Amino acid sequence: MRLALVNLAYLVASVLFILTFKGLAHPRTAVRANVMGAVGMALAIVATFALLRRTDAGGYVSILLALGVGGAAGAVMALRVRMTAMPQMVALLNGFGGAASALVAGAALGEALALGERPAAQFSVATVASGLIGAVTFWGSLVAFLKLEERISGLPVLFAGRHVVNATLVAGALAAGAGLVADPARAWLYLPVVLFGSVLGVTLVLPIGGADMPVVITLLNSYSGLAACAAGFVLDNTMLVVAGSLVGASGMILTGIMCRAMNRSLPNVLFGGVGAQVQKGAAVDAVYARVKAAAAEEIGMLLESARRVVIVPGYGMAVAQAQHAVRDLAQLLEARGTEVLFGIHPVAGRMPGHMNVLLAEADIPYEKVREMTDINPTFAETDVAIVIGANDVVNPLARTDPASPIAGMPILDVDRARTVVVLKRSLSPGFAGIPNPLFAADNTLMYFADAKDGVLGLIDAVKQAG
Ligand code: TAP
Repeated sequence: MRLALVNLAYLVASVLFILTFKGLAHPRTAVRANVMGAVGMALAIVATFALLRRTDAGGYVSILLALGVGGAAGAVMALRVRMTAMPQMVALLNGFGGAASALVAGAALGEALALGERPAAQFSVATVASGLIGAVTFWGSLVAFLKLEERISGLPVLFAGRHVVNATLVAGALAAGAGLVADPARAWLYLPVVLFGSVLGVTLVLPIGGADMPVVITLLNSYSGLAACAAGFVLDNTMLVVAGSLVGASGMILTGIMCRAMNRSLPNVLFGGVGAQVQKGAAVDAVYARVKAAAAEEIGMLLESARRVVIVPGYGMAVAQAQHAVRDLAQLLEARGTEVLFGIHPVAGRMPGHMNVLLAEADIPYEKVREMTDINPTFAETDVAIVIGANDVVNPLARTDPASPIAGMPILDVDRARTVVVLKRSLSPGFAGIPNPLFAADNTLMYFADAKDGVLGLIDAVKQAG
């Protein structure tokens, strides 16, 4: 009876998780979806308690202790993290998920052997999968975290023979895993599986960098789900299998969306070592030979007479927390009869949906926020495109230079607007480390300022111009 109730609770939690994923697809339903996910998780945890024997005081205490420590650490991290550092935090959480799966699978193997059981093939295959994928996820995520935190170089670190090294590590892990599956009594083989997986995690992620990091994060997210799913088979726990496969599948789908957004294949992202050089020097100076800078007053007059304005936010708007000032500017222009829309690139900022979250936080209506494919055909009829702290996602080199690290990445075609105003602090490159010829285009005016101060300056200027 107790088991039936636990399974029923697991079923309800699974349905809640699926509804959570559906709800997260739209900003309007995302908050409710988050609550549903939390309720589903709470239900799953309570149901898992019911699986313990009533006399197993040690079991209760250790779960409660882990919940307390993990919950407190998670709450502190979530409260303290800056919005722009969210990808690093997601990377860490993915990594912890992978490590937990590898540790749980190892402990289950040890327990089975200590009890004198001979594990079935399903158990040992799942144990090997959990150990290998979990170790790759943990170490890969740690490297991704250090890169995004800029504790180590964010550029691809390429070393000779890396493909051979990786292939050898995979072969070594699989050979050790096969030995363990053939004879589960040789539990020590779990160590080389985890060891090969750990080195593989480092060597797989080190050569990836620059603008490809978002794809790595979503891929590692997917891996953490697969490791959890395998741990679910180890423990014979349906909830873990369902939740793990949901995370694994959604991470894969997101990885596919990100690759399409950059017009790259997954193997090219993972093994291409793209963007290993930050470009500087005379070639870059030549690109910027004809940059025209403008002051707020000049741009204010331009906006005063514009009928259609498209605002393109990027990472710099997030850094400056300029979204509320941007909303005020949009409302001011609309009050004067100007149509104002927002164009969002799928990889603008530093995490999927980064710009949408910030604009929603500033209460900018969803219907004014347009995806790249919707807004791009309309730039030719746009009087002024205002680029706020964005760089790579508006870089025309993606269209024109096949050798560029962002070649083929669809961009927001702001250069087709009548006038482009680019608000940023300097001519520094964006995440991909390359110069941007847009800044020197005939129809571009550079407006050098911090995004928030700059937008506040534009608000004053428009008011004065009117
Ligand atoms: P970026 O190309 O990174 O450019 C951001 C620009 O913002 C910089 O050139 C910087 O120039 C400017 N900036 C920084 N702080 C500023 C401030 N306080 N005020 C005004 N400007 C400021 O940004 P993007 O166009 O949004 O493109 C995103 C890039 O990040 C892509 O290459 C993408 O692949 C990558 N990426 C995306 C994600 C996801 S999932 N979205 C995750 C990781 C990486 P100044 O220093 O001159 O001001």
